[in-house]
Amino acid sequence: MLANTLEDLPFPDETFDYVFQRFMVLAFTPQDWRSAVNELVRLTNLDGWVELFELACAPERAPADMIAFHGIVTLCTTKGIDHTEIWRLKPLLMAHNFHNVESDYISCPLGWGGRVGEMHANNIHLAYLALGPVVTPVLGVDQDEYSIIVQRNGRWIELGRGSLPLWAVFERFYNFIFSRNYILTSYSDYNPSYSS
Ligand SMILES: C[S@@+](CC[C@H](N)C(=O)[O-])C[C@H]1O[C@@H](n2cnc3c(N)ncnc32)[C@H](O)[C@@H]1O
Repeated sequence: MLANTLEDLPFPDETFDYVFQRFMVLAFTPQDWRSAVNELVRLTNLDGWVELFELACAPERAPADMIAFHGIVTLCTTKGIDHTEIWRLKPLLMAHNFHNVESDYISCPLGWGGRVGEMHANNIHLAYLALGPVVTPVLGVDQDEYSIIVQRNGRWIELGRGSLPLWAVFERFYNFIFSRNYILTSYSDYNPSYSS
């Protein structure tokens, strides 16, 4: 089924025990987040669960050259998308009478650490390529120059795989789990050192 989360999803209230949404950090404005969470909560049973799984744009051990990444973040900003909004999901959910909140993260290796790291790096590379037409005007470069930037950024990632491990890049994936009923564990906020 294709449906727009920002409009009424075609289900009655309290239809599902578990509602999961993933990787909308670069799609939603703050107002969109409020609308989407309203809708997801509406669909969730009173004893159900909502899980929001998000990518934090706060790379660990970031490579020196992240021009393509910064171009994407800047592009999002021009569209009113604030990637730091994910840090405000806890109060957003709590405003909907979710009793307890748990959040956790795993660091996903980028370009090293086996198949997952390779797939992650490839995914980022493909995202850079796909976004070329809309990122090049933001960066003020043409497509050829952008291709060079993407190749260079890819090499930084490859270098991080072993020969220059200090340049290895993690990206953190944040997994917010909100329960209407149960205390899971204590919650501690993570303060990303990266800001843009
Ligand atoms: C980064 S992708 C994540 C896709 C998928 N959730 C996953 O984890 O593989 C973001 C997706 O959200 C979709 N999207 C953006 N705005 C949306 C909206 N208002 N309602 C539903 N989907 C939306 C886009 O079409 C895109 O496929």
